[in-house]
Amino acid sequence: MQFFLDTASLQDITWASQAGLIDGVTTNPSLLAKQAGDLDPRDVLKEICSVVDGPVSAEVVAVDVDGMVQEGTELAKIADHIVVKIPMIETGMVAVRRLTSAGIRTNVTLCFSSVQCLVAAKAGATYVSPFIGRLDDVGQEGMDVIRETRQIFDNYQMETHILTASIRHPRHVAEAAMVGAHVATMPPDVLRKLLRHPLTERGLEQFLSDWAALGQRVKAGA
Ligand code: G3P
Repeated sequence: MQFFLDTASLQDITWASQAGLIDGVTTNPSLLAKQAGDLDPRDVLKEICSVVDGPVSAEVVAVDVDGMVQEGTELAKIADHIVVKIPMIETGMVAVRRLTSAGIRTNVTLCFSSVQCLVAAKAGATYVSPFIGRLDDVGQEGMDVIRETRQIFDNYQMETHILTASIRHPRHVAEAAMVGAHVATMPPDVLRKLLRHPLTERGLEQFLSDWAALGQRVKAGA
């Protein structure tokens, strides 16, 4: 399974990338607005692309076909590994088809059902992004969308990748991996939580204190 970081924070992206933990990045207008401040959001995207070699999703804000295609084409000029994020709306599907024909990769976002994912795949999307956390928030089982979509794509040998989005905790990552999502995109705090377990911390403390009790000096870096 591939891990993407769902953030525009250069600090977090640099850490995760240096640790070799991420294969790409996803952003959205809210995340970019938070990071950009006085900067041009395109400059933030350019910097992200200089740190990460894998796909970097950047979202259009137009909702008409020509506007989405124009914005998507401009975003794709920032770097070869930009993937254009398009909302799951009628005009969006035409934009996906046109961008795909122009050789630009797309990520259809704001998907909340397996049939939306099927439609996006038929339009030619490279990725579909079902938002599982937001479904859980309204009392639906978000993971069901990932499971159903995987089954549908397998039935018809569809090449679109399932990018599990709106991940809130490590169990979401484990379950998405078990049902066969291609990618999990997660906020930096969830990625950090994947590394931790209270028994790991407790075990390490115990080892170090037993060693110290022996009267041994623990050599730094040993
Ligand atoms: O970037 C899309 C998605 O991952 C957003 O997640 O936490 O705002 O529901 P969230």
